[in-house]
Amino acid sequence: MEINPKQVTGERAAEYVEDGMVVGLGTGSTAFFAIKQLGDRVRQGLKIQGIPTSEQSHAQAEAEGIPLTDFAHVNVVDLTIDGADEVDPAFNLTKGGGGALLREKIVASASRSEIIVVDESKMKTRLGAFPLPVEVVPFGWQFTLKCIRELGCEPVLRTSGGATFRTDNGNYILDCPFGVIEAPSVLEHDILTTSGVVECGLFTGLATRILIGRPDGSVEELTEPQPLN
Ligand code: A5P
Repeated sequence: MEINPKQVTGERAAEYVEDGMVVGLGTGSTAFFAIKQLGDRVRQGLKIQGIPTSEQSHAQAEAEGIPLTDFAHVNVVDLTIDGADEVDPAFNLTKGGGGALLREKIVASASRSEIIVVDESKMKTRLGAFPLPVEVVPFGWQFTLKCIRELGCEPVLRTSGGATFRTDNGNYILDCPFGVIEAPSVLEHDILTTSGVVECGLFTGLATRILIGRPDGSVEELTEPQPLN
């Protein structure tokens, strides 16, 4: 039987979840397997509360019978398991390929620890091959696009099925092909201080553990960020 690295990685991450935890439930095809595994464990008696990072994860968690909570009831998330589109050796991430970056970043920022689950194709020496998703408010998005263009890329308004893509929060996504990103936290700051920007898919200083799934079924675990060369 063919091994799915995303599945083994998502399932491995779910092993870090313990009774009593508030757990951030990530979004995407890798986090999917972590949520599925947590559903199995909940049915076997694990007591947790989940905070989903998207409507999609919310629906999956509900279907799995995972009890859910929100920030009206908790201030801190013990552990979040989420995917990424790119990861560099310093644990900087590009996220938002699925458009869930805003809720993902809120949940990551509220988390004591954040496990990132990826297959080995996501590991890069530098971020930037994947166009950086930036969530913007619909009002004045053309102006916001021009401001981001001045930061050094040609942003593209994301579409889906012939219509403008809308996030779970009703916003638009600009996909921004910056090329190699030499200083992720500087670019993150520059984007976040642009009028009309709600959130940026660069995640810096948030991931605490990276699980990398390989086609042979092994999972490498990284816990120490390395300086960028
Ligand atoms: C959702 O918007 C993204 O941030 C995902 O976490 C990311 O795209 C990873 O998804 P996959 O695990 O499906 O590649």
